[in-house]
Amino acid sequence: MKVRLAIVGCGEIASYVAWLARFVPRLQMIACCDSDQQRALRFSQRYRIPLVYQDYRALLEKENFDAVYLAVPHDLHCSMTLQAVEKSKAVLLEKPLARNFDEGKQLIDQIGESKVGVNYQYRYDSALYALARALQKRELGQIYSMCIQVPWHRSHEYFELSPWHRSLERSGGGTLLTQASHFLDWAFWALDEKPVCAIGFTDKVAFDVEVETIAHAVIQSQGGTLISLTSSMICYKERAVTIQIDAQHGAAFYCDRPFPTVKFQGTWVVKEKPPIRGIHALQRSLSAFCAWVLDETPYLIPAKQALPALAAIDAIYCAAQTGKRESTIYTRNHQCDNLD
Ligand SMILES: NC(=O)c1ccc[n+]([C@@H]2O[C@H](COP(=O)([O-])OP(=O)(O)OC[C@H]3O[C@@H](n4cnc5c(N)ncnc54)[C@H](O)[C@@H]3O)[C@@H](O)[C@H]2O)c1
Repeated sequence: MKVRLAIVGCGEIASYVAWLARFVPRLQMIACCDSDQQRALRFSQRYRIPLVYQDYRALLEKENFDAVYLAVPHDLHCSMTLQAVEKSKAVLLEKPLARNFDEGKQLIDQIGESKVGVNYQYRYDSALYALARALQKRELGQIYSMCIQVPWHRSHEYFELSPWHRSLERSGGGTLLTQASHFLDWAFWALDEKPVCAIGFTDKVAFDVEVETIAHAVIQSQGGTLISLTSSMICYKERAVTIQIDAQHGAAFYCDRPFPTVKFQGTWVVKEKPPIRGIHALQRSLSAFCAWVLDETPYLIPAKQALPALAAIDAIYCAAQTGKRESTIYTRNHQCDNLD
């Protein structure tokens, strides 16, 4: 059995997914859809996808398939997810879940137990998976600090090819939401905690855009871990993402270049392998989504787990405006434990 998938949004990330699909034996791409008809046609030819649509609603009405992969601008994430759920489709939604926590929480309340996963594929990165499992099993004891650096260079072309990235209304944010949210999602999953407060600075340097291109922040988690985060689109090219952890029984260091590695210091850790095989985190995420749809094997990022990253980012944006430390929604509502 295969998951019959429709790809919606035939842009940058969808090309990687369609290319990697050849390494996901349980996936069959049956349709693609883009509001830009030429782009949809080119995509269908390049990846040999038989059905082509320009209108998402028509695709949902007319075709028989199991799941959609939504790789569209952020302002369409919630409405398109809901439309798919109404037609009983499973959904693999590109990150972030929504433009902010409130929008994401509203979606979570509306989709109930439907199968909606968010493609935060770094949870399936082999080194980050091993590190997360070690933290979840408390092998390093109490985690004192986590320093996350996300230096992902972007050129003018990035905003020219996808102008929605410039718009605050359409994207909801810049480097924090589109780039750092991958690693904030990973961090709160690995700590198994919610963010409680944040301070931060953001700026719109180097491009004519409405969203931040650089951000420095410190976030405190429920258990007291201090997470310092720098995220930048205006850094020099090809720099590594790094995560440095200092803890009660030792330390850990993750680096994604030249390939993802994690090193532990001060304590012996057996590195757990991701629950699904593959050559790349994105491929593993796709394979795991198929296993979820076909066999009920849990996918690592069910939609509601994508909320803590949004709560942290909302607090950073707020702090950057007020110049003060700001609480997250979890602390404001005294709901750290029951607000999943
Ligand atoms: N997981 C990752 O590593 C990763 C990497 C890059 C982007 N993303 C996410 O993927 C999503 C898409 O980003 P991208 O960089 O591919 O953007 P993009 O601009 O390259 O592609 C978006 C596509 O959506 C199409 N589109 C817009 N409105 C549509 C509609 N109503 N119906 C159908 N198609 C429509 C556009 O024409 C475009 O082709 C975003 O959520 C982004 O954050 C994830």
